[in-house]
Amino acid sequence: MNLPLTFSCASDLRKFLEAERISGKGIGFVPTMGALHEGHLDLVRIAVEENDRVVVSIFVNPTQFNNSIDLEKYPRTLDKDLQLLADLPKVIVFHPTKDEVYPEDDKFQPIDLNGLDEVMEGTFRPGHFQGVVHVVHNLFQIVEPDNAYFGLKDYQQLAIIKWMVKKLNLRVSIVECETRRESSGLALSSRNLRLNQKEKEDSTIIYSTLKYLQSNYKDLSPLEAKHEAIAFFNRGKLELEYLEIVDPVTLKQIVSWKDGAVCCIAAYCGEVRLIDNMIIC
Ligand code: PAF
Repeated sequence: MNLPLTFSCASDLRKFLEAERISGKGIGFVPTMGALHEGHLDLVRIAVEENDRVVVSIFVNPTQFNNSIDLEKYPRTLDKDLQLLADLPKVIVFHPTKDEVYPEDDKFQPIDLNGLDEVMEGTFRPGHFQGVVHVVHNLFQIVEPDNAYFGLKDYQQLAIIKWMVKKLNLRVSIVECETRRESSGLALSSRNLRLNQKEKEDSTIIYSTLKYLQSNYKDLSPLEAKHEAIAFFNRGKLELEYLEIVDPVTLKQIVSWKDGAVCCIAAYCGEVRLIDNMIIC
């Protein structure tokens, strides 16, 4: 098994990538917090197809957790992650310490996210998205990728990163990748590691609700559809945090149907917080 070349020091990675760039190589980037699963590996495989070199970062970013228990419990499985990335051509791993990502002379300034961070996840996880844009910005500064790969599962995160790239005029293309699901429909997530089999089964109510909505929205207004979907969801065992039907770009609730309208759900299965979404029309 060939484990990937791994860097923990930002300046070593920069030097390595500089030499690659001089020889005309396109750099792809897949930022992760580790606990890799097939969803991450999909992003890596797409990046490998589209680039000469692919950097996968593994860094559990403390600034995006507003709950210290969640941060503490976040799975850290570096050895297994490296094994999952073994034998994938072109892939190198960046596994930095906090000081490498947030140096003393960090020039990052909080970004106005145009209200995108004030809805859904933003309401329940204050400060989370400033933490995400901060870390993604700093990682972009280190890796300077041509293409960066993000999953649609974190729909709001993706919308916010696209906004940041536009606002700061960053020279990186954001590539969005489909959500990978178990055969039950449950979206793959590192947090699923904390669910037992019964909880996994219970959690499929999220996907069933999204599918139900997708099949039944047509004769209803978005508000009526939202109430129907919540009633459907509540037949299951999870505790709903929010279910919103929103505009795909502004993330504001819609009053009439429009192309790309997306339903986003966050719910608790016991102590484990799960999110998912689906384009409804
Ligand atoms: O989606 C994630 O895993 C994280 O939010 C990211 C983009 C790696 C930033 O820490």
